[in-house]
Order: sequence, then C-alpha cells, then structure tokens
Amino acid sequence: MRILFLGDVVGRPGREAVQRELRDLRAALDADLVVANGENAAGGLGLTPATARELFSAGVDLMTTGNHVYKHREIYGYLDAEERIARPGNYPPGAPGRGLLLHALADGRRVAVLNLMGRTFMGDVDCPFRAADRLLAEVPDAVRVRLVDMHAEATSEKKALAYHLDGRVSAVLGTHTHVQTNDPHVLPAGTGYLTDAGMCGVSTGSILGMAPEPIVGRFLSGMPTRFTLAAGRGVLQGALVEVHDEMGITTGIRIF
Ligand SMILES: [Fe+2]
Ligand SMILES: [Fe+2]
Repeated sequence: MRILFLGDVVGRPGREAVQRELRDLRAALDADLVVANGENAAGGLGLTPATARELFSAGVDLMTTGNHVYKHREIYGYLDAEERIARPGNYPPGAPGRGLLLHALADGRRVAVLNLMGRTFMGDVDCPFRAADRLLAEVPDAVRVRLVDMHAEATSEKKALAYHLDGRVSAVLGTHTHVQTNDPHVLPAGTGYLTDAGMCGVSTGSILGMAPEPIVGRFLSGMPTRFTLAAGRGVLQGALVEVHDEMGITTGIRIF
C-alpha cells in the first residue's frame, strides 16, 4: 500500500494548496491512501466541521490531529460521529473522538491509523507509549498496515515511541513542529520513521505558517499577542510510505 501523508495543514493557504495540488500529487505518486494532519486547518488553530469537509472533498481520506484539536467547540460532536478523523489517543478517557481509525480501501485492503501526542514540552495527556500499546491491542491481527502520527515537540520522544513500536506498526510519522526533517528511514524491525512531515501552507516567509511579526513581538515583549496566518501561496509537504500489504513493514519512505 502506498500511503501519502501530509503534514499539518495550516489555515486557508494550506487548504487551498491541498485543493489545488493533492489530486495531481496523488496520481503522480500512485498513492492508495491520503492521510493528512488537520489540527491547524481552521485559521491556523484547530479544526471545524466545515474545514474538515473541505479537506475530505479535496481528496483527503483520513485525518489525524494534535494538541489544537479541541480549539473549536463545534468539532466535538463531529469528532464523535466522524470515523475518518483521529485525535490523539492518549487524551484522558471521555475526551471527544477516537485515537484509532480502522479503514478499508475501495479494493478491500484495510489500514489502521493511530494518533498519539507527546508530553515533553507539551500539554498534560496520558502516556503515549501505554496508549499505543492499548490501542494496538484493538487492531485486528489481519490488519497489517498500521500508520502512527506521533504529534510531538521532542525528537527524542518521537524516536523513542518509534523504537517502542518497531515491528508492531508499519510507520511512525512525526507532526507538530511544522518543519520537515530529512531523516526518513526504516528501523531494524521494519517500521518506517520520519521525525517531522512538515506542513501544508505558507512554509517559507512565515513562522510555522503564521505571520512572523506578532510572534517576534511576543518573544520581545513577553506579552500575549494575536497570531495571524502568513499571507502567500501554500505548498504541500509530507511523506510517501510504501508498506508491504501482508508483512506490514515499510519497504520505502521518502519526503516530498
Ligand atoms: Fe500543528
Ligand atoms: Fe501541534
């Protein structure tokens, strides 16, 4: 299975890039499945039902999220009902939505997508390592293609999770930093790994997709400032992961 994974989609420039470029990219890469991280799709922070629908109609099959998923209240019920969007599976019990997606392609092949969030330099959530073990126990044995979005700040935590899951999932892809890393590789037991997939949106001329000035201002003044989206034309960043259907191991991983 060839999986096209898109890093955090940031605001309208990110959504427009997805709408403009995803179908051609999907065809060029001969991808079977498109998974996108949508945590910043609505105005740069959070996800709304309307922005989620936009991404689905642009060709995204499944979505993961992260620490901004609960920014907009109207997404809560939508997350409970929509089986194509995951939120970090290590939010405490009772949080809206689900951390594990089980999905079937049109040709019948099945895939599991897990979403987790780091704790280092981030919010208070339950242990992502134990949450991963718990969620993996819910994946039917026959589903060998298993993709993990590890939404985290610290590279060490992302790599540690990948080694913890090596041989048990097909790939661990990092999100959240919005800066793509150049380290796609396969771990000893066959799990593909990338520290960060990058972002979809205004990647250069911005700070993580947002206009630089208010962010510089916050660092200089220590005062709260209102962040705005960077203006400009968005780009798509992410990874293509090739997974062996029966063995579930990654046979190729590259960034774009
Ligand atoms: Fe993000
Ligand atoms: Fe994030």
